Amino acid sequence: MYDLRLKPMENHPAFIKINQAGIAEAADMALIMERATAERASQPLPQQPGEEEVLCLERRMSIHNSWAFAAYLGGRMTGFVVGHPSIFESTVDQSFDKEYLALLMVDPEHWGSGVGTKLLNSANDHANKIGKKSIELWTVSNNHRAKSLYKNRGYRLVDKPQRQTRHGLSDLYRLDLS
Ligand SMILES: CC(C)(COP(=O)(O)OP(=O)(O)OC[C@H]1O[C@@H](n2cnc3c(N)ncnc32)[C@H](O)[C@@H]1OP(=O)(O)O)[C@@H](O)C(=O)NCCC(=O)NCCS
Repeated sequence: MYDLRLKPMENHPAFIKINQAGIAEAADMALIMERATAERASQPLPQQPGEEEVLCLERRMSIHNSWAFAAYLGGRMTGFVVGHPSIFESTVDQSFDKEYLALLMVDPEHWGSGVGTKLLNSANDHANKIGKKSIELWTVSNNHRAKSLYKNRGYRLVDKPQRQTRHGLSDLYRLDLS
């Protein structure tokens, strides 16, 4: 008999597809960003992206040499990662040797299913492929889910002061690439 507890095959983590993303996908990405942020704040999940968030994504993806990857399950976008050279961001020392991971967001419906890991691996692989020495990111100090994701994948806390962002006190993490 068919077991109704089983997820449809196309939603199995093995079916997560990662593609390069562009400005044309900014609205889908903005909605995922808003839903992930709402879930963290225990607020209702929006169904439509806000204009400001779409603009924010478009601005980020217009930075010179920026890159974006999106994850798809059963043809639906479930998460994304966006980054660019760290020279355009205020990190400890801005440098062309480093990449900067600006946004990593997964739709809350898919948290814990490996989407975040696959996206992070794509970002790391990309930075490695273009010859960067490291990749850095800021994460809010109380974001335990994100912090364990980064720590379990080789990122280390940079031993420098935290910074205050509109999301709260944040820590800098770095992955050294071979
Ligand atoms: C952080 C985020 C991207 C992780 O995405 P995800 O698809 O759930 O990640 P994965 O399924 O690949 O899980 C990766 C890690 O997340 C952590 N994690 C997963 N479920 C967790 C839970 N219930 N509680 C705490 N940590 C958890 C674990 O460290 C896990 O690694 P492990 O498998 O080695 O234990 C996602 O939760 C998200 O979008 N959060 C809101 C936005 C955000 O905080 N982005 C990061 C900003 S810096």
